[in-house]
This record gives sequence, structure tokens and C-alpha cells, in this order.
Amino acid sequence: MEEQIKKIQENTSKSIKQAQSKQELNDIRVKVLGKKGELTLILRSMGSLSAEERPIVGNKVNEAKKEIEELITQKEKELKIKELEKRLETENIDITEPSKKINIGSIHPITQIIDQIKEVFLGMGYSIADGPEVETSHYNFDQLNTPSDHPARDLQDTFYITEDVILRTQTSPVQARVMETQKPPIKIICPGAVYRSDTLDATHSPVFHQIEGLVVDKNITMTDLKGTLEMFAKKCLGENTKIRFRPHHFPFTEPSAEADVSCFVCGGKGCRVCKQEGWIELLGCGMVHPNVLRNCGIDPEVYSGFAFGCGVERIAMAKFGIDDLRLLYENDVRFLKQF
Ligand code: DAH
Repeated sequence: MEEQIKKIQENTSKSIKQAQSKQELNDIRVKVLGKKGELTLILRSMGSLSAEERPIVGNKVNEAKKEIEELITQKEKELKIKELEKRLETENIDITEPSKKINIGSIHPITQIIDQIKEVFLGMGYSIADGPEVETSHYNFDQLNTPSDHPARDLQDTFYITEDVILRTQTSPVQARVMETQKPPIKIICPGAVYRSDTLDATHSPVFHQIEGLVVDKNITMTDLKGTLEMFAKKCLGENTKIRFRPHHFPFTEPSAEADVSCFVCGGKGCRVCKQEGWIELLGCGMVHPNVLRNCGIDPEVYSGFAFGCGVERIAMAKFGIDDLRLLYENDVRFLKQF
């Protein structure tokens, strides 16, 4: 029986050496160590052996099993390495294969307009200022010469957080914050979100964007304001754009005006975008009210300034031909990736 074991061991290690695949190794394992394997059968037939022979043969079988297992494990490793080497030799990278498509987003139309306007004003020597969206009524109204009975302060129009804390209804409070902390000459613009208690529809949104502008220095006049806005309109909306002022009222400017630009879609002839008027309302503006300068610690006898506040959505809609404001906030990529 010992002879038989030795023979099995020899034959098995030979076939393990010659094996070319995992499958072959598996077959060998089953043939020798499986339920009906050669060594298993020997173990089973040990009942016929004498009490002295039994432990000796048992030992031999176990040793043989162990050796065969080890040989198989070893061979498996070798085969794995060979397989890898073969793959490395035969596989090559096809550099002409198109790569996986990566979807890159696009800049939101509102951000695009803000960026363009920033660019124009940076070119004219302005800096970008910033202020909080959660603002106090002190900055949003009081510092801006807006009395407590002014309709803009109504609960219906403004989101109040407490009596004194609100969501800013305009970017104008940044004017006051800047004037309090900087000395003239001041030349800033401030883009940002503003909030009004409006119901969302095609032309209104409770949150929208404005760009505020403020210049304070000695001898600033309405001509500077008009020249600046003309430059802004030409650079942002096209060289042929014209600008006109209409008298208006804002508490924080005197005199105040609303500025229209000639329709940059039809050139002023009248179209759907300008509602056949040839002009599009662009912004509110004026000469900074002496009370505002005084409130912020600037002497109106020495300094004067102009300011303007411009809605961003309206420009984006006219420029990109968007006829419903809501589209700008729905985050539908099918819409947004067109711009
Ligand atoms: N804050 C005004 C608004 O939201 C717009 C405005 C008008 C801003 C005149 C100004 C200005 O700076 O001078 O309607």
C-alpha cells in the first residue's frame, strides 16, 4: 500500500508540473483528493489493515496529501503569473479609441452676464465690493434715506427675519457699507442676489440679481454718470447702443433717473423683446443724496457721487432671448447648456 501511495504521489506531482491551466489543476485535485479520489479511497480502505500498519499508512497518506496540496498551490501561482505576462505581451492600448465622454457644465446665463459686466467695470478701474444678503433694515433702508413709512419697507414687499433684520431688497446697502469703511475716491460695483416678497411668475421672482455701482469723489456730476452708463451699455450690449434718462424717484439719489437702452435686439426699430418700444429699461440711478453721504460720514459739501442699480435677469433674458424668468432658476440642464 505504501508503494501505491508513493506511485500516486509521483504521478500526481508529474501531472501537476505539466498542467497548463487552473482547470487541469482542479481536475488533478479531484482525481487524487476528491471524494472518490485515489488517496481518499486508500484512506477509506484502511479498515482492512492491521492495527500496526494503520497509523503508518495514515501518516503517509496525510503527508502525500499535504505535499500535493502545496504543489497545486505553487503551480496555481505560477500559472497566474504566466497568464499576466501573456496578457501584458498581447494586450496593447488602442490610443485611437474615443475616450469616455465627460459632461462639463456651462456657466449659468446670469453668471455670464455678471462676469461680463464685472469685466467692463474692472476695465474702468472699479473694484468689486461685497455685502451680506441677510441685512439690517438700518443699512437696507435707514442709511439710504428711506423713511420708515416708505412703501418698500412694507411687510408685503420685504422678507423680514426680525423687525430689524431682513433679506436685502436691493444691493444698495453695500453703498452705505462701503462709504462707512472707505474714504473717497470710491469706485465700486457690487453684484449679488436680492430678495423681494413676490410670487414667482414669468417676470417676477422672490430672488433675483442686481449689480450696484457707486462712485464718490470730488466734482462728480451727472455727466460722469451718463458717460459711465453709456460706456457700460456699449461694451455690454453692443457699440451702437444708445442710452436715455427718464426722471424718476429713489430716496437715496437726488436727482434720480431710470436709464433705458436702445433695444439691442432690434436696434431700436421695435420687436418682441422691447415690446415694440425700441427701448429697454436698464437700471435706476442718480446722484447720491447728501443725506446718504452724511449718514455714512462723508461731507456732501466736499464730495459728490453717483450710483446705479441694475437688474441682471432682465439683461440675461433680453440678450439670450429667454421669455420666462422661471427657466433661469429651474436648473434644467437641457435649458442651461444652450448658453
Ligand atoms: N436699489 C434700486 C432698486 O432696487 C435701484 C437703484 C436705483 C440703485 C438708483 C441705485 C440708484 O444705486 O442710484 O430698485
